[in-house]
Amino acid sequence: MWEEVQQTVSYIKERIDLTPEYGVILGSGLGSFTEEMNVEFVLPYSEIPNFPVSTVQGHKGALVFGTIGDKKVVAMQGRFHYYEGYSMKEVTFPVRVLKFLGINKLIVSNASGGVNPAYRVGDIMLIKDHINFAPEHPLRGINDERFGPRFVNMSEPYSRKMIAKAKDLADTLNIELKEGVYLGLQGPTFETLAEYKMVKILGADCVGMSTVPEVIVARHMDLETFGVSVITDMGDEDSIETISHDEVLEAAQLAEPKVRTLIKELILKY
Ligand code: HPA
Repeated sequence: MWEEVQQTVSYIKERIDLTPEYGVILGSGLGSFTEEMNVEFVLPYSEIPNFPVSTVQGHKGALVFGTIGDKKVVAMQGRFHYYEGYSMKEVTFPVRVLKFLGINKLIVSNASGGVNPAYRVGDIMLIKDHINFAPEHPLRGINDERFGPRFVNMSEPYSRKMIAKAKDLADTLNIELKEGVYLGLQGPTFETLAEYKMVKILGADCVGMSTVPEVIVARHMDLETFGVSVITDMGDEDSIETISHDEVLEAAQLAEPKVRTLIKELILKY
């Protein structure tokens, strides 16, 4: 894995003359964030050696390099999910590449199903913690100390300083935020009513199919990490029949301008 990461990083560095400080992973329906960037280089995943290729509708597949103000950013337009058939090591390979391209902060976004009864479709939730309910762990197997330690401290998976800054900014921008716990399942099925209930009882506020492995690997490499989730459907009895991927994308797109602004401001001001 170390060699593959270095090979991919060398390939990218030969083509791209920009050392990013921030990495941003754009989830379902949030891909237009790159419009906030002064884009300098775009590398389709299909051209990057060792990169998986994203197979999900609503997820483009490219690394986008550019600036926001004086901050240098690389955005992943499209991510990889376990349900697509990749191993967790494949799902998280790009995060390792971003680290060795130079980033020290990672911002992740996703769409999720809300189980907190105070939530509504279209809400934006800062992820303050997560519960890993995925069937495979990205750090399982021999640990390569060059990436990070065998046993990773997960007491602050999401940077409290970044969360505090985002809340300040949201106040000024008049963006209403929730703050809660994200539980990661493998998908690709949406949850049954009994499963949404389980998620709630386990102590989470929302549930989704991504993010957790990426954040684990980011923390393995000591990246400061920030996560934001758009509630695209509610796992309650009244609305459960209506959930489809198209509706998830539609709801995510409605919240997109606010999420875009928040992430942009955080990058500018943090
Ligand atoms: N469940 C799991 N993943 C999701 C959901 C959901 O309800 N909505 C968006 N992604």
